[in-house]
Amino acid sequence: MDKLIVEGGRPLRGQVRISGAKNAALPLMAAAILADGPVRLSNLPVLGDLLTMGRLLTFMGGRVELGGIAPNEAELDLTGLSRPEAPHELVKTMRASALVLGPLLARWGRAKVALPGGCAIGVRPIDLHLKALRAMGAEFDLSGGDIVARAPQDGLKGAEIRFETPTVTGTENLMMAAALAKGRTIVANAAREPEVVDTGQALLAMGAKIEGLGSDAISIEGVESLAGASYVVMPDRIEAGTFLAAVALTGGEITLVDFPHEALAPVTDKLKETGLTLTPKGPNLLAQSAGAIMAADVTTRPHPGFPTDMQAQFMAMMAAAKGTSVITETIFENRFMHVAELRRLGADIALEGRTAVVRGVASLSGAPLTASDLRASASLLLASLAARGESQIYRVYHLDRGYEGLDRKLSSLGAAIRRVKA
Ligand code: EPU
Repeated sequence: MDKLIVEGGRPLRGQVRISGAKNAALPLMAAAILADGPVRLSNLPVLGDLLTMGRLLTFMGGRVELGGIAPNEAELDLTGLSRPEAPHELVKTMRASALVLGPLLARWGRAKVALPGGCAIGVRPIDLHLKALRAMGAEFDLSGGDIVARAPQDGLKGAEIRFETPTVTGTENLMMAAALAKGRTIVANAAREPEVVDTGQALLAMGAKIEGLGSDAISIEGVESLAGASYVVMPDRIEAGTFLAAVALTGGEITLVDFPHEALAPVTDKLKETGLTLTPKGPNLLAQSAGAIMAADVTTRPHPGFPTDMQAQFMAMMAAAKGTSVITETIFENRFMHVAELRRLGADIALEGRTAVVRGVASLSGAPLTASDLRASASLLLASLAARGESQIYRVYHLDRGYEGLDRKLSSLGAAIRRVKA
């Protein structure tokens, strides 16, 4: 297990390219199950969760070449799939394994997927996925911790579905299932996240008929078959936002290449309030720190609200801001695991239920820290970059699950980070 040793206090300068989006790449890999030919994905980030998804599809009997053709490219051929199963071993390390359920039911008529348990940020059930697929005719039994699923003999049928709450992977799962179902599926209260749109666009490239992407009402007309296709994964808005929070904390100026301007607008609007100067340069963005961070309040919401996946990084910024910030988390019930660790750096944070009141302090000071989940680990790394002295961050495998070489990229901008075996 690796740990990071961070020496704080170095401003960031230079240029860095944003990787492909983890949360778009995961459903896109699962979508390959639907295709009658190979699917080629480029701009694929090389990170832990994608390797896990690759292992899962290989376990099922698929051919997955990750990085074999070119770095950050993959070819997936799932046409010879022999074992439509997602075992507990793989699902427990990555909840997104549930994304194979819809495609397996649509393409192969059956699936066995281990029921995901709780995770660090909350209970995160998949009841809404199951309810929606049930409306399309699927049947589910629970056996030995696995969901054993079957589609009707003549396949899934289009249905009208209204999600009680917008779910990102639920919308993606349903869209993939509906793409090969008989008739029309209408999804109301659908998730509008850019990664849902990216998944839909890849399905369109494969021959699916989908309308309303990016709105909360998506309509899918099932087709007989989907073809293989080539698709470029969108840039990762959360990685981009993480770099912006980093430069706000350290000072300096950086250029982010291949910046997802529109997808990240809910975050960039907020970061401008905190004093960061952001200048679009075509597909890139120049970010300049003003030297001080102004406090601002944030409430996480489904897109186009402020994303929960940026809450922890924003809190690291507020810990070192001028003034008091109120941060409310409405998506996950337990996504404040970073609070106790940020306090170890000297942050002044009071927690009450789903709200954190962060009183900015004049300076943070380095400490040993333990990462608890993906975005929490990013938050600790950012705060350490701003802290006086040395921090050591343990359990960085959480970071490696969801970022492509974040410590390496930050180092290329001048951060002092060393990775050693713990
Ligand atoms: N929910 C249910 N039942 C369901 C599905 C969701 O109650 O069947 C609840 C959840 O517990 C949560 C809310 O609905 O309270 C929204 O959850 P959602 O289903 O949208 O989350 P997800 O699809 O499991 C994806 C991302 C997360 C991101 C959330 C919210 C992927 C692979 N994961 O998760 O990403 O936080 O949407 O935007 O796309 C991360 O990258 O760090 C990460 C956790």
